[in-house]
Amino acid sequence: MSLLDQMKKRASANPRRIVLPEGTELRTLKAADITLKEKTAKLILIGNRARILQLAAENGLTHVEAATIVDPETHPLMDHYADMLYEMRKMKGMTPGEAAQLARNPLYLSCLMIKNGDADGELAGAQNTTGDVLRPAFQIVKTKLGISVVSGAFLMFTPTPQYGENGLLVFADCAVNPNPSAKELAEIALSTAETAKAIAGFEPRVAMLSFSTKGSAKHELVDKVTEATRLAREMNPSLTIDGELQADAALVASVAAGKAPGSEVAGKANVLVFPDLQAGNIGYKLVERFSGTQAVGPVLQGMAAPINDLSRGCSVEDIVNMIAITANQAI
Ligand code: ACO
Repeated sequence: MSLLDQMKKRASANPRRIVLPEGTELRTLKAADITLKEKTAKLILIGNRARILQLAAENGLTHVEAATIVDPETHPLMDHYADMLYEMRKMKGMTPGEAAQLARNPLYLSCLMIKNGDADGELAGAQNTTGDVLRPAFQIVKTKLGISVVSGAFLMFTPTPQYGENGLLVFADCAVNPNPSAKELAEIALSTAETAKAIAGFEPRVAMLSFSTKGSAKHELVDKVTEATRLAREMNPSLTIDGELQADAALVASVAAGKAPGSEVAGKANVLVFPDLQAGNIGYKLVERFSGTQAVGPVLQGMAAPINDLSRGCSVEDIVNMIAITANQAI
């Protein structure tokens, strides 16, 4: 059974409440229909009730009727959610009027529902940008205890079994932090190792990537990666991590033997941590397009509750898979 099928099975044994704020977006609605048919999660769709039901009827999405529909214009808890938002953001200058207006925004409303215990996780981004999905999540749901930075990982199902864990690798940060500090990069490494264990289901061997291997080049950008590696080891001494490593030294045993002999990670890394978002985002997209890799994510890590962001180019299948991942994170 594939990893995604295992996740669906686990999710359907313990269905979580996942809120989809883009309830009137057609791919999202189609994915909701499949999810409800497969019973992978209990779904909450945000949007105009009449519009959602009309779209479902027009497209033969008969399972959508099993979803809970939350219409921001008529929902009985709207005043309560607006008060919550005002209390959380008044120190940042938000007025009660602004809070009442923002609480009606489905991306804010879904985070308020999670904060209030009315939902277990959220998936959005088929229609909205990453920044618009993440901002309310950062402001309302916030990070896990001990983590200051949220990051985005991809499960990379590559067709090359000689790399990673029989072809499966976890890449991060490919979605959130444009230019992390050494400490933030160390936190990203720890969070990604946790994602590898909890979601990909393997013991992580983390490579901290650079354009240098073990001092082969001198530059402040390389120093950031070696410092992040040191800090990550300090934060979690049991973590199997090494850096700085070039991508070939991280992945290819024969290259590792020459460039980083004796490393526990080099030549057999299954988690790749990129030094910044330009490298991470470009890197995962190149691997995806050139090798026929299935890139599943970004799985957001470090958030106090599971909230995931889709690419606006996502397919219905991507959304179905990400709902299953979000439901697994919520268990
Ligand atoms: N982790 C946790 N909290 C964060 C993070 C983070 N990584 N970044 C910002 N925050 C918090 C801030 O502390 C702040 O909280 P506060 O208001 O309570 O003080 C709040 O979020 C807003 O912070 P800003 O710095 O104002 O955030 P801004 O809105 O400018 O930017 C954002 C945050 C949107 C995530 C930005 O970093 C960004 O745009 N990143 C790139 C996203 C992107 O475009 N990715 C590529 C596409 S994704 C893909 O291709 C799969």
